[in-house]
Amino acid sequence: MSLFTFAASPLVITLTVRSFTFSPPRCSKHTVMSAVRSESTSTCPVLTKFQKNCATPTTFLRVVADAIADDMQAGLAVHGGGDLEMILTYVDALPSGKEEGLFYALDLGGTNFRVRSVQLGGEEERVVATKSEQLSIAQKLMIGTSEELFGFIASKLADFVAKEEPGRFRLEHGRKREIGFTFSFPVNQTSIDSGTLIKWTKGFNVSGMEGKNVVACLNEAMEAHGLDMRVSALVNDGVGTLAGARYWDKDVMAGVILGTGTNACYVEQKHAIPKLQNQSSSGTTIINTEWGGFSKCLPRTIFDQEMDKDSLNPGEHVLYEKMISGMYLGEIVRRVLLHMCQTSDLFGQSVPAKLATPLTLKSQDLCKMQEDDTDDLSSVGSILYNIFEVKADLKERRRVVEVCDTVVKRGGRLAGAGIVAILERIERETKRLASGQRTVVAMDGALYEKYPQYRQYMQDALVELLGDELACHVQIKHTKDVSGLGAAVLAATNSIY
Ligand code: BGC
Repeated sequence: MSLFTFAASPLVITLTVRSFTFSPPRCSKHTVMSAVRSESTSTCPVLTKFQKNCATPTTFLRVVADAIADDMQAGLAVHGGGDLEMILTYVDALPSGKEEGLFYALDLGGTNFRVRSVQLGGEEERVVATKSEQLSIAQKLMIGTSEELFGFIASKLADFVAKEEPGRFRLEHGRKREIGFTFSFPVNQTSIDSGTLIKWTKGFNVSGMEGKNVVACLNEAMEAHGLDMRVSALVNDGVGTLAGARYWDKDVMAGVILGTGTNACYVEQKHAIPKLQNQSSSGTTIINTEWGGFSKCLPRTIFDQEMDKDSLNPGEHVLYEKMISGMYLGEIVRRVLLHMCQTSDLFGQSVPAKLATPLTLKSQDLCKMQEDDTDDLSSVGSILYNIFEVKADLKERRRVVEVCDTVVKRGGRLAGAGIVAILERIERETKRLASGQRTVVAMDGALYEKYPQYRQYMQDALVELLGDELACHVQIKHTKDVSGLGAAVLAATNSIY
């Protein structure tokens, strides 16, 4: 259904609202969504070239999905075998729902951190009660020392525990409170309750921590604050999402995060992991792919390269993350607009100072602009004015929306290709989809949650690559904030008592 058509020559933008059914009609119980998108061809040479370089036709996405699959295989074979770390998480037992007792979750992975207590009542009662608190991490802590960061976390944890009221479960004498620690950065896991930081992502750069055991850092800080607690499970947010969603739904086979950063974790058969030496090869385990590190055959433009060069973690790392996750989409758009401004008459004769300032445009701004359904794109106009102090005419507003759409389309479709690579890997061993078994991908992250166009592009790519027959058994389930529950349940599963 066509919603708005702007036919002002020479630029024609058609914004359409398409009703999206994730699966064929006979499977219509699955995801249904709509999206607003631009389907124009531009006459601005910079934009035309950019659109061409960002193109992701189905044939190209197939190449990307296969390359991700190859790197998954290489990473499962030997440590460091491919771009994807394919980290062994030591999470072999997924939640059964029978877990009982009082457990805690601590979640650090972005500008906020969260503390949660969960009273698990077993199969019949499930989550009896839960309490949580969210606090923001100041920018200076993200780039300070580990003592400052973990000291702050431990002090807030101590405040949380001090406020606790008696619940159903009492701690037996001599028993420590057990925590599931969700640490959403790449960690070389050495056991279920220890692991060393490989590298920081998402704007964190705490000094001297790479190679350090993150649980030891937290333990030291907890001891210093007189806290009688122990980490029983160290988990990535993708693992926490998978485990938390699995607690309620046995068909969950993967956890994907599309937020500030991105990642995918999935259930793998142990016998299919050659690098799992000296361990039992029966049963399943969760693999943390760290797919953000994928870097082959991606449609990188000069704008991606320059953004990477200026980032806190430049180089051949997290290139996929820098194309598909929320932290970077706005910055790529800003760089394209700046170039258009410098090489054409976009926004007048001089370059507005704010347009030349890094990280001023956020992915939520892109979303608001793409959602503008007024005839004169008035929201686009005010967003550009508020952020860059430019007065854009209608033609310029349309161009800006086109740039947003190009970047978001590329990001969403590449994310879809990644999910297909994961699903096909699961399928290789289980034949779930081919046998008509529902297969659920638990999804979390603000980009997925709050950006309908991104979501739509991701799902389009998924169906194009998988085909209707298989895609109709896939459900992408938005499982907001379940990673805390997942971490607490994994602390229960791995309790030392
Ligand atoms: C990190 C992952 C994390 C993801 C989502 C990435 O930057 O490397 O470990 O799961 O962000 O939070």
